[in-house]
Amino acid sequence: MDYKSLKANTIIGKTDIYLVGVYTDKRLSHLGKSIAKLNIELAKKCFNKNDFTGNIGDHRTIDDFKNNVQILFFGLGDKDKYSPLTLNKSIKGIISKIKDIHVTNISINTDNIISKRNNVTLELLVTYLEDGFYKYIYKKEKKKSKIKSCNLISNKIFPRKAFITSVTNGKAISNGIKLAKDLGNTPPNICNPTFLSNEAIKLKKINKKLKVTVINEAKMKSMGMGSLLSVSQGSKEPAKLVAIEYMPVKNKQPIVLVGKGITFDTGGISLKPSPNMDEMKYDMSGAGSVLGTMKALAEMNINKNVIGIIACAENMPGSQATRPGDVYTSMSGLTIEILNTDAEGRLVLCDALTYSRKYKPKYMIDMATLTGACLVGLGKYPSGLFSNDQKLAELIKKSADKTGDRVWQLPLYDDYFEELKTNFADIQNIGGRYGGAITAAAFLAKFTDGVKWAHLDIAGTAWEVGKNKGSTGRPVSLLIDFVLSN
Ligand code: BES
Ligand code: MN
Ligand code: ZN
Repeated sequence: MDYKSLKANTIIGKTDIYLVGVYTDKRLSHLGKSIAKLNIELAKKCFNKNDFTGNIGDHRTIDDFKNNVQILFFGLGDKDKYSPLTLNKSIKGIISKIKDIHVTNISINTDNIISKRNNVTLELLVTYLEDGFYKYIYKKEKKKSKIKSCNLISNKIFPRKAFITSVTNGKAISNGIKLAKDLGNTPPNICNPTFLSNEAIKLKKINKKLKVTVINEAKMKSMGMGSLLSVSQGSKEPAKLVAIEYMPVKNKQPIVLVGKGITFDTGGISLKPSPNMDEMKYDMSGAGSVLGTMKALAEMNINKNVIGIIACAENMPGSQATRPGDVYTSMSGLTIEILNTDAEGRLVLCDALTYSRKYKPKYMIDMATLTGACLVGLGKYPSGLFSNDQKLAELIKKSADKTGDRVWQLPLYDDYFEELKTNFADIQNIGGRYGGAITAAAFLAKFTDGVKWAHLDIAGTAWEVGKNKGSTGRPVSLLIDFVLSN
């Protein structure tokens, strides 16, 4: 979409639909002068008689025939709770209502919406608007984007330079989210490890400063990545470890982002039950979020060092597959007893984390759809956050608040590490019956070797089920904010 910043009084009569966000206080004074003046009677009717609440998801339309425009009031919820998260919800709801009606231009009153105090910026508004129109397009379907332009209406127009930057960045962020969503939604017979590595190579077109290295199985073997290789050995699809380097600044330690890229997780010999197994195509969402983040940052041409690492493999059963009881040596030298072949994410990630150390990371963050236990414990709203450095954890929480991409921290007490002990290797790949999200994180922590590290378990947040089934693109917006702020 194209965006324009316009003053309130110039718009009526020149747009198809005018969106006005209203808090639950329903104060008309918030609506911007033009609407109130021109349509005060209609608006009053709508507010007083039609029991419009201002709650998120609630909306009312009035037809202003005189000026040939539809005015749509939509709820922004409680003013005291207003935040990036609640705006994202409101925008999502309203776009689902307008995307199928015939309009080519929309206008949106930004007076209530953009609020420095609540961390709601123009950049976020643009991100949410663009993201709201996302649709997964499969081959034969034609893309039909009917809404071409969006006027951002306020009492004062935005300063030109700041406006352009916000719109450009908002679009770049939503492009990153879109890539993560598309990769997640792509069927697993297409989106395999080689496909993901090719997607990484494609990123080079965006920015010359990007360097992409694809490490194949032979190379992994020579580097001693026995843990990663154990996961792919049951599949005919070869594993790929991909490093995307973006290092515009000399002599500065990079932030390293590591993503779990299991393009399909059957569980292996510890086979998963059939119901909903298709959802395990989303088991590469960590890698998808790394690719999406790198894409957005490259588009923004940022001046920060950041590395994206994706560990891609397919977890299949078969005569070549690993068995429970097998022991493999990881790149770090630690030997691992595999007691459950379905705990494969940590097996690919541990070698990716060891590999990442060569960059001497300032921070290292991994994203993984790691455990069903995380989903059981936290539900589907926040990602699980784990860290060996509390300052880093706080920085991630800050980015979560700023983007509405929520996280909730869980502990990493020494006790959890005890559960990984075995008589047959340095470490086993599962813990006891309880706290599975934490023992999984503890396993990863064993491979961080003093690097400031955090782990986001996105098992509950990376995709949605039910009628809106599909990738969410999380936690791309959190990661972008984190890299830009640190
Ligand atoms: N990819 C799954 C985790 C998962 C399951 C995410 C369901 C979202 C929904 C992961 O590889 C896995 O299978 N984890 C096991 C670990 C267990 C064997 C210790 C799990 O969570 O059951
Ligand atoms: Mn698994
Ligand atoms: Zn998995």
